[in-house]
Amino acid sequence: MNDPADTLRATLADLVDGLPPRQAARAVERLIANYRGDTPTDAPILRDRADVVAYAAYRMPATFAAVRSALTAFAEAVPDWVPGSHLDVGGGTGAATWAVSDTWGGTRPVTVLDWAEPALVLGQEIAASLPALREARWRRSRIGAALDIESVELVTVSYVLNELTGSDRAALVDAAAGAARAVVIVEAGTPAGYARVVEARDRLIAAGFRVAAPCPHSAACPIEAGTDWCHFAARVSRSSLHRQVKSGSLAYEDEKFSYVAATRLPVEPAASRVVRRPQIRKGQVLLDLCASDERLRRSTVTKRHGDLYKAARDAAWGDPWPPGED
Ligand SMILES: C[S@@+](CC[C@H](N)C(=O)[O-])C[C@H]1O[C@@H](n2cnc3c(N)ncnc32)[C@H](O)[C@@H]1O
Repeated sequence: MNDPADTLRATLADLVDGLPPRQAARAVERLIANYRGDTPTDAPILRDRADVVAYAAYRMPATFAAVRSALTAFAEAVPDWVPGSHLDVGGGTGAATWAVSDTWGGTRPVTVLDWAEPALVLGQEIAASLPALREARWRRSRIGAALDIESVELVTVSYVLNELTGSDRAALVDAAAGAARAVVIVEAGTPAGYARVVEARDRLIAAGFRVAAPCPHSAACPIEAGTDWCHFAARVSRSSLHRQVKSGSLAYEDEKFSYVAATRLPVEPAASRVVRRPQIRKGQVLLDLCASDERLRRSTVTKRHGDLYKAARDAAWGDPWPPGED
């Protein structure tokens, strides 16, 4: 099995199969109760094997899917580029390393940095199932003013900023901007997650980066602070563990996330991006767009628009618009 998404799903299923079901469910319940992830702490929250197994089984499929969506949009904006090396900061069990392998294939030097040793140990075990990740380095390190990042092509920071103090967030983004050609930051799709993303976006632009996705431009975000938040959704299949913990029969759930992908490379951002789920009405599709003229607007595409109408019916939340101009 070589497809990273399938391999990850199978590897995580084996991990859960190795645990008595009640114990797995209890570990996830403890994780949900303790892991709010919105308050900086002095020590890692993922403290032991049970914590990290619960994290990997319960959250990693969702963070993987969110990062993969962000990377797909980024890859469309830098079509000829393939990262030659990757550093995942606050990488935990390594979800973003799987997403990078899924987006670009091939192999590259990979380093995962985190302060939670049990997360790194489990991440390395899981990564043994994917040849592209077998040589990855798993390094224990604290994100803070002393963080030193060696020169690397791509830095990912996935679901980490909300766990850091303001000064550590700034130190991390500045260190990433100083060391990398591309930086991709993903946070939960909440108002707080979006606020962290916008803050990082501003810092990256000030450091000379251009935004490749999701924004069609590198000017200020047109969303008026406090009125709305830019976010997207990635579909995640629910594992049997999910169904056990969250009663309900849905076979999937939508992981909401906010992100910014910025780079020093030449970029071809989308002309516009669909920033809400399109509304399909009789004979028309309503698209809420963020556009390259730095505005948000609603576009109504009707049957009269012919092929564009067909494309609008297929358009998804998060897609570039119009198609073919990404
Ligand atoms: C919500 S998890 C995200 C893990 C992974 N990036 C993902 O997307 O699944 C947050 C990670 O950030 C790490 N972290 C939080 N604060 C940190 C710090 N000050 N230094 C190093 N790692 C930190 C945690 O140990 C944890 O692995």
